[in-house]
Amino acid sequence: MATKTVSHTRRPARPAVPSLRQVLDDSTRRLAEADLYYGHGTDNPGDDAAALVYHVMGLEGDLDRKTLARKVPRGALLMLDLLLARRIRQRVPVVYLTHTCWFAGLPMYVDERALVPRSPIAELVEARFEPWIDPARVRRVLDVGTGSGCIAIGCAMAFPDAQVDAVDISAEALQVAEINRASYGLQKRLQLLKSDYFAALKGRRYDIIVSNPPYVGAAEFRGLPSEYRHEPAGALLAGKDGLDAVKVLLREARRHLNPGGILVVEVGNTETTVRRRWRDRPFVWLEFQRGGGGVFVLQAAQLEAFEKDL
Ligand SMILES: C[S@@+](CC[C@H](N)C(=O)[O-])C[C@H]1O[C@@H](n2cnc3c(N)ncnc32)[C@H](O)[C@@H]1O
Repeated sequence: MATKTVSHTRRPARPAVPSLRQVLDDSTRRLAEADLYYGHGTDNPGDDAAALVYHVMGLEGDLDRKTLARKVPRGALLMLDLLLARRIRQRVPVVYLTHTCWFAGLPMYVDERALVPRSPIAELVEARFEPWIDPARVRRVLDVGTGSGCIAIGCAMAFPDAQVDAVDISAEALQVAEINRASYGLQKRLQLLKSDYFAALKGRRYDIIVSNPPYVGAAEFRGLPSEYRHEPAGALLAGKDGLDAVKVLLREARRHLNPGGILVVEVGNTETTVRRRWRDRPFVWLEFQRGGGGVFVLQAAQLEAFEKDL
């Protein structure tokens, strides 16, 4: 009878350890197959995959060939798998998984207490609001609806001699802004206030009032992709037609602007409604090199034109 030798000493084969490039490709493929929505700082599966892989590997900057050939340790693979599952099954925007994003060239901490920073106003902050105001004259800036504090912190960094106030009605969002303020050491120059729009700002005047307020109308809100359900509803929803916050800004900002000051407001897709509602008003609608739109600028004196019908 034939005998068979069985080895009791050979270990089972270990799964091959993948390289960083393989893990990036595999993660991109998994995300692409999941039919996700991209609109929270990234616009394609490759960028989402890269953000997650960089996060679990603790990487920064551009990857060279040598780094791409590096083996990815098992612990990082397990962590990545968990994050990919949350992105795919729960539709969590990637920034809420890594808790880091960039705004106006500055890293920001973010979690689900505050909106994911993505406003095109970042470009304007980087340009120090030129040509709409002379940066040399900017001493006081107000950010209305500061969320994570991204715009306010961007302004404080862009105008090192200015005092910045930032208000939000959400105490939770202000906790996130506080984390960012502390990490930039801006406690002296950036004041965070819990306020319903201008309520806590009696008598204060500014050279720039900037705001990315809620501007989503009720019908649009109901149809938003699942990713938006992870953001605070109060950061998005602005009444039936999306104009609730814009009306307050147009009505109140004049009392808080210095002569020659400017009001800068993002209204996103609600631009069409704003144009229709205030048809012959002197809005200047901005264009951005990195995309996005729906942002207008008004000079302080131009706000008089809105007093009557708000
Ligand atoms: C679209 S988010 C913008 C957050 C941040 N500025 C950004 O660009 O990422 C709007 C913010 O306005 C705040 N907000 C909503 N209603 C407000 C009100 N009545 N007074 C002050 N802030 C308000 C929300 O809590 C939210 O943080």
